[in-house]
Amino acid sequence: MKISIRIFALAAICALLSGCSTVQEPNLVPLPQKMTAGKGTFAVDNSVSISGNAEFAKEYLKGRLAQGASITLQQEGKRNIEISINPQSDIKREGYRLSVLPDNITIEAADEGGAFYGVQTLLQLMPAQIYSEGGNLGKIKVPCVEIEDYPRFGYRGAGLDVSRTFFPLETIYDFIDWIAYHKINTFHWHITDDNGWRIEIKKYPLLTEKGAWRGPNEVLPPAYGSGNKRYGGFYTQDEIKEVVKYAAERNITIIPEIDMPGHSKAVIETYPQVGCTNKDKTMSVNGEVNNVWCIGKESNYAMIEDIVAELVELFPSKLIHLGGDEVNMDNWKNCPHCQAFMRKMGMKQEIELLNYFVRRMEKIVNKHGRVLVGWDEIIKGGDLEPSTTVYGWGSMKRGANAVRSGQPTVFLPGEYCYLDMKQSPYERGHNWAAIVTLDSCYKIDPINMNEFTPEEEKLVLGIQGNLWCELLDRPERFMEYQFFPRLCAIAEAAWTNPELKDYNNFYGRITSTHYDRLHNMGIKFRLPFPEVIYEDGMLKVTPPYEGATVRYTTDASDPTVSSPVLKGEIETAEPEKYRFATFYKDCNQSITVGASNIELYHYLTPEVTIESSYKESESNRSFPMSNITSYNMKKYWRINRRSYPGDFVQYNFKEPVECGKITVETGVPNITFYSCTEGHVEYSYNGTDFIKGDEFVYGTAVIKPQEKVKAVKIVFDGMSDALITSFQNLRIEK
Ligand code: ACM
Ligand code: ZN
Repeated sequence: MKISIRIFALAAICALLSGCSTVQEPNLVPLPQKMTAGKGTFAVDNSVSISGNAEFAKEYLKGRLAQGASITLQQEGKRNIEISINPQSDIKREGYRLSVLPDNITIEAADEGGAFYGVQTLLQLMPAQIYSEGGNLGKIKVPCVEIEDYPRFGYRGAGLDVSRTFFPLETIYDFIDWIAYHKINTFHWHITDDNGWRIEIKKYPLLTEKGAWRGPNEVLPPAYGSGNKRYGGFYTQDEIKEVVKYAAERNITIIPEIDMPGHSKAVIETYPQVGCTNKDKTMSVNGEVNNVWCIGKESNYAMIEDIVAELVELFPSKLIHLGGDEVNMDNWKNCPHCQAFMRKMGMKQEIELLNYFVRRMEKIVNKHGRVLVGWDEIIKGGDLEPSTTVYGWGSMKRGANAVRSGQPTVFLPGEYCYLDMKQSPYERGHNWAAIVTLDSCYKIDPINMNEFTPEEEKLVLGIQGNLWCELLDRPERFMEYQFFPRLCAIAEAAWTNPELKDYNNFYGRITSTHYDRLHNMGIKFRLPFPEVIYEDGMLKVTPPYEGATVRYTTDASDPTVSSPVLKGEIETAEPEKYRFATFYKDCNQSITVGASNIELYHYLTPEVTIESSYKESESNRSFPMSNITSYNMKKYWRINRRSYPGDFVQYNFKEPVECGKITVETGVPNITFYSCTEGHVEYSYNGTDFIKGDEFVYGTAVIKPQEKVKAVKIVFDGMSDALITSFQNLRIEK
């Protein structure tokens, strides 16, 4: 890659010296395997013709040129673009040769996918507006170049959970376009989970009539910010067929996932006979009870056969994903049907039930000529069909174990590929796997990070960026923020050979050029924030990339497009009043930050005790009540149950506190997850008479007292929308 870039720089200088038009570095993402710059440019305008036998690729290019540039390609012309497929050629699968000369452009490939990717690369050689809708570029100069390219991995995936958060069809179509631009060839559609069943199944209409909806009077309770309204949605079979066709035209296979036997609350609340019979309600890791299919009921397998029969009619994908993750096997331990079944089969441990279930799923899926996919837990019971494919998610090691046990494996280890993880400590997202930075995504390399034998290497199918959507209800368009540009890094890790990869170079391409493409694609991508430190009376700000615009405020508010642009260092004795953010044009900005090496807030820490409707015995042991009297803002009290009207937490100060503002936060710090979704605050000057204050908005309420405060109370007015409730330390300011 360094060599190619150097060739490009040389070509640019030569072009300058020889008086030809200058060649801009194309900054392609993902980086092609081999690229050599030529001299001059090919001008695309209304006089150019298009030919060749690659019908889909041709139509696609014509469509994009019409949409993004208002250019219409002709049947005949002096200059031509030829896109052809020759299955006998020596070009690798999904690979292509792209040659741009002043008089013609040719794209050759051995298959449809390769022709399509040749077109994608050609688009990246054009101005970023080519991705816009209704653009009018007149004439486009494409730099002359020779590219020979092919993917490192045959599986390059993007996974989206549409159960916890429902995405309308338009978003699904946009998403397919966005991933296709990055040469991703697989969309893993996580289409059912505890919190919503989102695919029409004709034989079991209640799955979507009831199981697709959450709310106060629905079979599924509110969850993940859906609040006290009816929330949900699903895709009809006709809609799904259209989506599958649209994706196929973009070289994308859709792998559907019906998550079983765990993560199945939506089906069990709808068809209760499916679940286990037990009195002891044990929770899944997501806090759900009664969300596991019973293994001991034979009727369940007939139902699954029916569901899979409809699924395979909709999705031509060879791989069919039936889950297998995070089953709380206590459900089976406590279920008479499961226990009787174990005795009948001579099983000793519940894990054998999981293995039995997976083996039955293999048979059901294989009968249709398809291959079963499951999460990495499915290897625990051993003894799987050699074709059964594993998604290694728990860690790199668990993926490697799947490979070593002989199963084809897709790698999406949480610490590199889970895009529901935070991108920094200050942003919304989970962090149980890691803080997943752009750099972490770029690093993923399941082959070089493991010592596989050549035979084992063949079982590494590829990698996938994955978004779980528990925390996607806000802020607006957070899905785009979580995926981009991290998915660009994963796309390059999946496409480009490792010896060509260089993070700094990638970051340069993203920030200098690819942001413009993402913007024109209509994606609200994440921008990195500046680094700010306070030293020797000066605020020293490092912009996150060359050419970044940083704006700031002097009153601790969030910068806006009208805030001044930072130029140089700022001398101040009050650094805590300054806030900074990176801006892309006037339409996208990073999170707001202050100096990272000073206390930005000076909270008061008066002695306080707690009175509450929750018992300490309801606490999670790792998150005791004492956490919320510590004034350590990272700590919280976690109660292992849903909250109902009348539940309360009261903070009693030992001495009345003189203060100007108290911010009352519920939920987990920085996530507002498990928070008070319907409730209000009260406060008291004497400890007995309470004044009603604000309602909670997204888990936060603010009190501005007129007198010294003796007590603060959080009061629930509605059912909370999680099975867990969390409280934090009061943030008390002068
Ligand atoms: C998973 O994240 N439970 C596959
Ligand atoms: Zn059971």
